[in-house]
Amino acid sequence: MTSTRNATQFLLFISAVILLWRVGCGGKILIVPFEGSHWVNMDIMIKALHARGHSVDVVRTNQSWYIKDDFPHYKPITVPVVEVFNQDFLNLILKRVFSIERGESSVFSFLSLQVEMFNAMYDMHGIICKMATIMLEDENLMSNLKVRKYDLVLTDPAWGAGILIAHALKLPLIYNVRFATSGEGHLAIAPSPLSYIPITGSGLTDSMTFIQRVKNLICYVIWQAQDIFLIRPQYQAVCNKFFGSDVTYSGLLHSADLWLMRVDFVFEFPRPTMPNVIYIGGFQCKPSEPLPEHLEDFVQSSGEHGFILMSLGTFVTELPADITNEIAAAFAKLPQKVIWKYKGDRPDALGNNTLLVDWMPQNDLLGHPKIKLFVSHGGTNGVQEAIHHGVPVVGLPVFFDQYDNLLRLKEKGAAKILTLAIVDKDDNFLKAIQEVLSDPSYRANMQRLSRLHRDKPVKPLDNALFWIEFVMRHKGAAHLKAESYRMPWYSYQSVDVVLSFLAAAAIITFLSLVFFRLVCLEKCLKIKTNRLNKK
Ligand SMILES: *[C@@H]1O[C@H](CO)[C@@H](O)[C@H](O)[C@H]1NC(C)=O
Ligand SMILES: *[C@@H]1O[C@H](CO)[C@@H](O)[C@H](O)[C@H]1NC(C)=O
Repeated sequence: MTSTRNATQFLLFISAVILLWRVGCGGKILIVPFEGSHWVNMDIMIKALHARGHSVDVVRTNQSWYIKDDFPHYKPITVPVVEVFNQDFLNLILKRVFSIERGESSVFSFLSLQVEMFNAMYDMHGIICKMATIMLEDENLMSNLKVRKYDLVLTDPAWGAGILIAHALKLPLIYNVRFATSGEGHLAIAPSPLSYIPITGSGLTDSMTFIQRVKNLICYVIWQAQDIFLIRPQYQAVCNKFFGSDVTYSGLLHSADLWLMRVDFVFEFPRPTMPNVIYIGGFQCKPSEPLPEHLEDFVQSSGEHGFILMSLGTFVTELPADITNEIAAAFAKLPQKVIWKYKGDRPDALGNNTLLVDWMPQNDLLGHPKIKLFVSHGGTNGVQEAIHHGVPVVGLPVFFDQYDNLLRLKEKGAAKILTLAIVDKDDNFLKAIQEVLSDPSYRANMQRLSRLHRDKPVKPLDNALFWIEFVMRHKGAAHLKAESYRMPWYSYQSVDVVLSFLAAAAIITFLSLVFFRLVCLEKCLKIKTNRLNKK
């Protein structure tokens, strides 16, 4: 009896010690996230931070789509905003993209779509700047945040609010990043020669012909112009108002302590990087868990043929009816079963082998032994999960970086890409699916990528957690930050040095010319006088 009591007491003591230790070493983190699909992976990181005993506060607006205010693993800080980014807008853009891709519209409508996209970008960042302004103006809120004594701010720099808040609170800053407000994350921080680094949206790979390099440069200039004229000035205005005009927004953007980059080099083309960039691509991937019973039954009923998964992501809820019908009809001709995440009207041609679902445990389905193929729009999350589980992909890219993501798989022989322009013609969709199912090289290549991706000393999520805690322990990571971000562009490119060399060379040349001219003149004069004297 006494021994069990002692044992119980001992166990209690140990758990108390562990609990205290966890509370003791738990840090305080302020998170300023990005909505939509980016929240999906930020949430996974927050859960992991919470599980390690850190306390996490999340900034959200009172109109957030995904970021709820009643989760146990974080405390919400809700900012009341009047305007929000309208999700319907994306479906409108989508309709335009379809009609342009399918040749129903002219060059003019393509240009006007580009203008609309720029406008949308402008409005979106405007809304974020308003949100930051509301926060910075609210003295009560800001002093409460100061009193909380956070260890750091973790943000997705695709929206700049977190950067401004971190500066106002004078806290170390960590990014969970793929895109910054200025474009692809690497372009903001690492040297990026345009000769072999394709710009997002160019649809190019790392091996480019001359013409392709011209195209790449043009894409770069467009991104730069968008940043310089549409995005940066809005954030700079907030900086001017609250921090003074000697604080530049791009300086703040570049001065983050750590960049947790959501790619790895199994996926991304090799490129230069920096000491404070940590690669965490695929950190959201987990071993698959058992499926809910109805899904498991459905999947098992596929027998030896296996099943196909189709999802077009968080944003694309509707496709034009003729395309969905074509897709449904193609699926109906297959011996495989199909699980299709789809919210629109039920297509007429839907076969009895296809299950439409509102939501699905994508990671668990991708990790299921019976899966044969993933039909994806090419969002980063889905692509990384497909790599993790080694499932070949048929890609239907719609917008943003989706085509470029899929291209990285296609280049490695692990995916086939169909554009919306041709998906409903000549059985293209069915042919693409049959090709990827029947040609074993797609699966073999994807499985090779999966093996490469998994062969790491530390799991990407653990790596991310280590570095977040590293920044907490050392109150930043200043020793990893290159000086580059403090420099004006002409110093960074050594243009000033080269110019001063050229100037020196020019002066020396000029002086030498003058000197020789004088010497020459003198000599000539002497010769002349000699001749005259002789005469
Ligand atoms: C959010 O807050 C704003 C400003 O106080 C208010 O006008 C708006 O109605 C609120 N929206 C929601 C959904 O609560
Ligand atoms: C599904 O459809 C196929 C072909 O239309 C038919 O042969 C099969 O019996 C149907 N299965 C069920 C369970 O209804």
